[in-house]
This record gives sequence, structure tokens and C-alpha cells, in this order.
Amino acid sequence: MSTRVLTGITTTGTPHLGNYAGAIRPAIAASQVDNVESFYFLADYHALIKCDDPARIQRSRLEIAATWLAGGLDYERATFYRQSDIPEITELTWLLTCVASKGLLNRAHAYKASVDQNEAGGLDPDAGVTMGLFSYPVLMAADILIFNANKVPVGRDQVQHVEMARDIGQRFNHLFGQGKELFTMPQAVIEEDVATLPGLDGRKMSKSYDNTIPLFSSSKELKSAISRIVTDSKLPGEPKDPNNSHLFTLYQAFSNHAEQATMRADLEAGLAWGDAKQRLFTLLDEQLAEPRERYHAFMSKPDEMEDILQAGAIKARKIATPFLQELREAVGLRSFVVPGADLTTSKKKAKKASRVVSFKDDEGFRFRILSSKGEDLLLSKAFADGRGAGVASKHVQSAGDDLDIRQVEQQLSIWLDGECIAQSAQYSSDELCAEALAELRSALA
Ligand code: TRP
Repeated sequence: MSTRVLTGITTTGTPHLGNYAGAIRPAIAASQVDNVESFYFLADYHALIKCDDPARIQRSRLEIAATWLAGGLDYERATFYRQSDIPEITELTWLLTCVASKGLLNRAHAYKASVDQNEAGGLDPDAGVTMGLFSYPVLMAADILIFNANKVPVGRDQVQHVEMARDIGQRFNHLFGQGKELFTMPQAVIEEDVATLPGLDGRKMSKSYDNTIPLFSSSKELKSAISRIVTDSKLPGEPKDPNNSHLFTLYQAFSNHAEQATMRADLEAGLAWGDAKQRLFTLLDEQLAEPRERYHAFMSKPDEMEDILQAGAIKARKIATPFLQELREAVGLRSFVVPGADLTTSKKKAKKASRVVSFKDDEGFRFRILSSKGEDLLLSKAFADGRGAGVASKHVQSAGDDLDIRQVEQQLSIWLDGECIAQSAQYSSDELCAEALAELRSALA
């Protein structure tokens, strides 16, 4: 069975070298591993929480999409999409909002930080806090749960959100799963070591420190940023300590072992900082030349990116649409026109209706028919989508005397349009089989 890896990128900024080496490059590499299904998306709904400048949102979405594509993401293999193209995510957000406890969300770091800051400033605790900020973890839970992701690579600051997704998903499973796991429990994967590429001043490279190295700007701008890397004041000829130089750390992130060994030895032998910067520049400029060219090519063809992302949304919705349908039904948002449904449904009848239980497993969408005692009577085949399973399950519940039940030796099966759609276990005696048949008829009566 394959592992589903999913991560989102909030579209509020322009990716810099640290984002590229720390998150984008490893994610692209991970998406090429066998038995991994990757879901990478632009978290543009999350961006709206932090940013109310439409032009900036739009620019960032384009730049981030182009960066991933330029970095070599195989978008045919991975599922690459914009969050805002998947309406199922917002719909699921509401279903989850209805089971997420407010107390849980009160504890979210981002919200708490705002409250603390307000209180320290003598303001109302919720001053400037939108419902978007408060509900941020619920939206993120929907991102993760709608695709039943197993692994979620994130920075340390996001681990709490993944844990909340588990909490909320578990609660939903408990309330509506009828003993089945509707949602898979996701696990956060922390990209600690790679995420800490130093910036110009040696602190973690981050836009908030204003210490970033641009990723796909011109060679000239790259050179100018590198010239601003802070070093100690050792003169040319004086031995330098590579282990205490973030210039060397940056060099390491982009070079092979042989290059690293040479650079290390040369610094220890007194290589001038100016020359070391020149080497770093040459290294980066060479390595980024090709993706930079691809980046600018993509940026000049937004229609091509639009097509790629639209195709990604179609692929993602093939999973999200039937799954959301199943979730809607689980909470009671069902069609009024279930054939045979009695709208004056008494409690007793409602109980009977629940004797057909839908669920999803590795092979697809299924339902099982339970006896009045809750024992399994029949298990359906795996349907490719929720709709197919739904049609068959409705047929089973509404066909009445027309239902094609067959008995072959000591096994029962149900047939529809010449196909066996559900089967019982093999019973050990004719009596048991006859009893099961009677149970089945009464369960479906
Ligand atoms: N909140 C994440 C961040 O700011 C981005 C994100 C949104 C995300 N939805 C997600 C990450 C789902 C992982 C899974 O970094």
C-alpha cells in the first residue's frame, strides 16, 4: 500500500533560497520515491487569513507555482493543485467546525500569541483577531483529512496544527463512523535539519529577519546578496574556521562532498572571504541557472500553469468529491429521494436503515449489511467510487421482493444487472445459511 504525503504552502510571499533548499527541493525529491503519493498544494485560503492585498495573493500564487514547477516537480505523478480550486475542502471545513471544540482552538499557538500580545498591550484579548485566524487549524485539518494523508511534512511551528487535525478527525470518526475509520490519522513529519538554512546574518533565513538570498532573481542580484553575507573580520591569509561560518553552511547545502572538502581546506589555509563569496556565487549561479530559466519561462506562460493546476484540481477532486459525498451522508445530509424511504420514518425504521453501512477501504467503496443483532450478513464488492456503491446500496434497500438474492451451497449473494454485488460468508450448515437468509430478508424488509 502506498503512503500519502501531503503539504501546503501558504501563498503570501516570494520563495527564497531557504524555502527552496529547506522545503521545496526535498519535497520534490520525496515525490519521486516509489509507493509514495504526493499531494502538494498552494494554501491560498490560508493566505487570505494573513493578507488582504489581492495583488500580492495573486503574485505569490504564480511565483510559488512557478518555483515548484521550475524545481522539477513531476506534476503528472504528484497531485499539484490550489486549495481554492477544491470546494470540498471548504465544505469539509464546515463539517469539521461543527465537531471541533472551541476550547481546543483556544489553545492554538497562533491565536494564543495574538491574545497574549493584546493583553500585554492592555487591549481586548480578541482585538484584531478574525474568525479566519481562529479557525485556521480547522481549515488545515480539512486540507489533510479530505485526502486521508498519512504523512504531513511541516515546520516545527505547524506540528500542533497536525495534532489538532488528528483530534478533530478522531472526534468525527467517533461520532459518525459507526465503528469505521472515515478519516485516516495523519502524522506530522518535521523537516528540522534542512529547514534551518542560515540567512545573510547567520540567523535562520526568513523574510521576517530580512536576511534572505533571492532564488530566481538575476545573477547580479544574487551576487549582491552574497556580498552582504556577514563573516568575521579575519584577513586574507589568516586561517578561518568553516564550522563557525554560515557562508560555509550555505556552500555545503549546494555542493558535493569533494567540493565541500576543497572549500573547507582552503578556508583553513586562509582563503579570503571575498574569494569564498565568489566561489559560493559561482556555485549557486551555476546550479540555479537552469531552474531560473524554467522559472522565468513559466512566469511568462501563466496560461500553461493555469492548465497544470486545473488538471491537478480535477485529479484531486476525483478523490475529494466521492469522499465528501460519503461524509455528507454520514452526518445525515442525504437525498430526500432515497427510493423507498418513508419520510414519516419512525425511530424503528431509522434503525433499520442503518443496517446498511457504507465505508471505504484500500480497495474502494463498500457497504455491509448487518443483522438486527449487528452481525455482518453480507459484504459488498469494492466499488471504484462512492456513487457506484451508493447506487448499489440504495438498490439493495429498496428493491424489496425484486432483490435478486441467490444461494449457492451455503453462501448468499446479491446480484444486480448480471453482476454479483455482495456476498455473505460461507456458512457451515444449511440451517445457519437459512437463518442468515431470514435475517437478511428482515433487515431489508
Ligand atoms: N499552515 C501551513 C504553513 O503555514 C500551510 C498549510 C496549510 C499546510 N494547509 C496545510 C501544511 C496542510 C501542511 C498540511 O506552513
